Amino acid sequence: MAQYDLIVIGSGPGGYVCAIRAAQLGLKTAVVEKDKTFGGTCLNVGCIPSKALLHASELFEEAGHAFGKMGIGVGKPKLDLAAMMAFKDEGVDGNVKGVAFLFKKNKVDTYLGVGRVAAAGKVEVKGADGKTLTLETKNIVIASGSDVARLRGIDIDEKRIVSSTGALTLAKVPQKLLVVGAGVIGLELGSVWRRLGSEVVVVEFLDRILPGMDSEVCRQFQRILEKQGMIFKLASKVMAIDKSGSRLKASVEPAASGAVETIEADVALVAIGRVPFTEGLGLREAGVALDERGRIAVDAHYATNVRGIYAIGDVIAGPMLAHKAEDEGVAVAEVLAGQAGHVNYDVIPNVVYTYPEVASVGKSEDELKQAGVAYNVGKFPFTANGRAKVNMQTEGFVKILADAKTDRVLGVHIVGPDAGNMIAEAAVAMEFGGAAEDIARTCHAHPTLTEAVKEAALAVGKRAIHM
Ligand code: FAD
Ligand code: NAI
Repeated sequence: MAQYDLIVIGSGPGGYVCAIRAAQLGLKTAVVEKDKTFGGTCLNVGCIPSKALLHASELFEEAGHAFGKMGIGVGKPKLDLAAMMAFKDEGVDGNVKGVAFLFKKNKVDTYLGVGRVAAAGKVEVKGADGKTLTLETKNIVIASGSDVARLRGIDIDEKRIVSSTGALTLAKVPQKLLVVGAGVIGLELGSVWRRLGSEVVVVEFLDRILPGMDSEVCRQFQRILEKQGMIFKLASKVMAIDKSGSRLKASVEPAASGAVETIEADVALVAIGRVPFTEGLGLREAGVALDERGRIAVDAHYATNVRGIYAIGDVIAGPMLAHKAEDEGVAVAEVLAGQAGHVNYDVIPNVVYTYPEVASVGKSEDELKQAGVAYNVGKFPFTANGRAKVNMQTEGFVKILADAKTDRVLGVHIVGPDAGNMIAEAAVAMEFGGAAEDIARTCHAHPTLTEAVKEAALAVGKRAIHM
């Protein structure tokens, strides 16, 4: 029987990064994965394929709308959806093979099959052939991720009523796409299909999009998306979807109840959140406690209530983000190797990869107000940034929130081109406990979009130059 220091269940960004870090630290490590390929939600049906389609569809739209203005005559771009999907699949394939390569390189053993915690120190792996293998280990890290949240009474068939997984593989562009939920999946994948030609209607339960993100940013972002043609029905809920006819008929009601309206669509995307995935792991039998929302309960060192069993990523509390899962993977591996693994939850960037992108790190203005923290705001619009102007990408702004007394940066929010890359500067500044003054006095290359970050930092002290 194989003996390990660590067995990781799940090979998503939490699990695979944890296994590699543990192996680097000299732990004899194995990973168990139930799917055919490594990489979890993120690489197979999440971050990577969605970004491939966002990238391709953004260029498709740009070719149709912006190239002519720059003197590039390419005619009306023609969509070959099958080829675009093949491009996406190739990107996924390269990434999942990359994880397999890294496992080999770091001498991480791999087992394909459903992993079950038989007891502390024992993992059973049930292969596709039905055979079960038992592995022994000092520690177990559960990184089983999350699954799509479902709407009661609405059956996701992944053809006409789809989750994000189905929305990444549609065989044809729906004439009309109904998106349920104005969260990050709804807006990203809604953007993909709108750019490729769908009419997109987004029904959201709350009276705003992207709950949790800075509300000023979201208000402006909603206006930008509306200008692009996306239609929003806020404070509304989808009660049922009738798929008996050739078109779907969704019954939509105001969130506070009222007259029911019917919205017809060809495809409906249900994107109302994700839930922790704990099925088949044998947690109840092993005595592993869950929290009130069905997530595995862990302490500050990712330890569950059962000695030797740990958990990380989407299956525990916190934002369901790949980089959060990865950092937890590193931290728990370091803890198991006797080091001081740690994640700073105050500095986890959050990015929506639409056009323009929305990116944030730290506290929103709403959160600071609610907590009664005194703060200064520095804002700078991309209309005043030379590079954005010449690129014809002037929508959006940078907003920096700094402590009124100490000037320490408490939050940075960007809606604008390449916001997802630019937010890294803010994260580094915050990780070092930096002040707005530190960003303002850091030399930023010209002409770059990042100068808008510097100007927003200058604006905290009311001394922006280009405004
Ligand atoms: P997962 O990636 O879900 O991996 C869990 C793995 O465990 C899976 O491979 C699963 O098969 C395996 N597993 C489960 N149970 C068992 C078992 N019993 N035995 C063996 N294996 C098991 N996040 C971002 O940060 N940026 C993005 O751009 C982004 N885009 C996304 C787009 C979409 C459409 C979706 C759905 C998600 C996106 N996310 C994004 C979220 C991101 O994918 C998750 O936060 C991340 O994958 C969580 O990592 P994880 O390792 O915890 O779990
Ligand atoms: P989400 O939590 O971001 O958004 C769900 C939205 O649906 C919310 O606005 C919510 O108010 C709304 N909603 C809930 N019930 C509803 C109902 N019955 N009717 C109408 N609206 C309803 O969840 P989403 O978009 O499904 O994404 C899941 C997770 O995946 C997110 O938590 C996110 O962390 C992760 N993800 C991250 C990405 C990124 O980092 N760029 C991209 C895609 C997903």
